[in-house]
Amino acid sequence: MTMQTLARDGAGIASGRPARTYLMCPPTYFDIKYTINAWMDPAAPVDRDRAIAEWERLRATYVGLGHTVHLLDPMENLPDMVFAANGATVVGGMVMGARFRHPERGEEAGAHQEWFARHGYRRFRRATHVNEGEGDYVFAYRAMVAGHGFRTDPRAHNELHDAFGLPVVSVELVDPRFYHLDTALCVIDPFTAAYYPGAFGEDGLLKIKTLFPELIEATERDALAFGLNAVSDGRHVVIPHDAVDLERKLTERGYDVVPVEMTELRKAGGGPKCCTLELRP
Ligand code: ARG
Repeated sequence: MTMQTLARDGAGIASGRPARTYLMCPPTYFDIKYTINAWMDPAAPVDRDRAIAEWERLRATYVGLGHTVHLLDPMENLPDMVFAANGATVVGGMVMGARFRHPERGEEAGAHQEWFARHGYRRFRRATHVNEGEGDYVFAYRAMVAGHGFRTDPRAHNELHDAFGLPVVSVELVDPRFYHLDTALCVIDPFTAAYYPGAFGEDGLLKIKTLFPELIEATERDALAFGLNAVSDGRHVVIPHDAVDLERKLTERGYDVVPVEMTELRKAGGGPKCCTLELRP
């Protein structure tokens, strides 16, 4: 594929400043009641008011950048529901539903499905195998990068391909701290991605290097600060404020870095991207 084709595929991005549409769920009932990843410790205190304030600022940041944010109603028995990115994957108005690995989050898939039904999304695919939405499916314009190893079942990658018709590049995650692909790989624009090499197996690393002409390597410190859990519109990169090395590298390359504080949600293993499901028209 030529660079021209890539630029056309990534139309809005390459040509300036496209408005994005996101689905978010307020952390009204956010808590750490169980442990399903290496970050979660139910004994550690969570400041929910602070989580709400941080989340509100994230939402306001998107709105300030000109993006649209839709809201999903939170449910009391689902303390992780704030991580809306896990509930589905949406490309070209088609929705691939999620199916959660852990029963604690199981009901979130239905809440998402209902939201899409009520908001006029007629093309919805139910998942047969476990997939945790954009947690493990990273949209890369001319392909989907799909993670497996901790949550998403590799067999789900075929369903993903059937749903969107995009090539699916499967990569294995090997470090339990980076249990979802969106904690270790962030697509910045059609040509550029940032990643933390230590999160991937050898084969996955090779595929990532082949897929993106421009790669920014994040340090372990950036990755632990959830720096790769950033949200890019191709120009602005909304990123946890303490991913400082990555912020510098992005700034040097000409991106507008927009730092946000996400200290509370991080205790559950999440950052800005986890809270943000992109609805691609
Ligand atoms: N506590 C949640 C879980 O372990 C965090 C989800 C983070 N979401 C993401 N897109 N990485 O499932």
